[in-house]
Amino acid sequence: MTDDSSTPKHLVLVGLMGAGKTAVGECCAELLGRAFLDTDQLVEANTRMGVADIFEHHGEQQFRILERDAVADACASPVPLVIACGGGAVLDAENRRRLRASGVVVWLQAPPAVLSARVTADASADRPLLAGSAAATTTLERLRAQREPAYVAAAHLSVDTEGQTVDDVAARVVEEYRAWNG
Ligand code: S3P
Repeated sequence: MTDDSSTPKHLVLVGLMGAGKTAVGECCAELLGRAFLDTDQLVEANTRMGVADIFEHHGEQQFRILERDAVADACASPVPLVIACGGGAVLDAENRRRLRASGVVVWLQAPPAVLSARVTADASADRPLLAGSAAATTTLERLRAQREPAYVAAAHLSVDTEGQTVDDVAARVVEEYRAWNG
């Protein structure tokens, strides 16, 4: 991505697990006619390992290094993308800087109990930070308290997703993005 302010920026989605970044991101990509990229999927493609396996065999720290590379690759795309970031990507200051510089960053929010219900219903994703946690809500409450400053620092704007369909949230995100991106 160049610094040319006339270049359209990426649309970047951040938020806790269960915020709907992937589902909403895919829908936004369709609405904008752009490619969609999920940093977890990029890490998995680059390593040919699942996120949970990377955590188990190499540890979270190694996952964060791989995630930082994925964020850098995504941000460097010369064509504007819709990028969904793993929930912890914003903890890294370099990730935050890159994402904000090359994209409009939207924080998808919902109360921890709502996030918990969504992740419990979504059997397709491996989420090692919630594995073995009978009370996902408690874990998500803790993560939210820890991470809130990082989301605030990363995001240009936030969108509340509680009680809304993926289509509704995506339409709202695209509207906000267009208003922001000019
Ligand atoms: C994580 C969120 C996951 C994935 C990894 C760690 C986190 O992505 O990157 O399990 O630290 O919140 P999703 O937010 O897409 O589930």
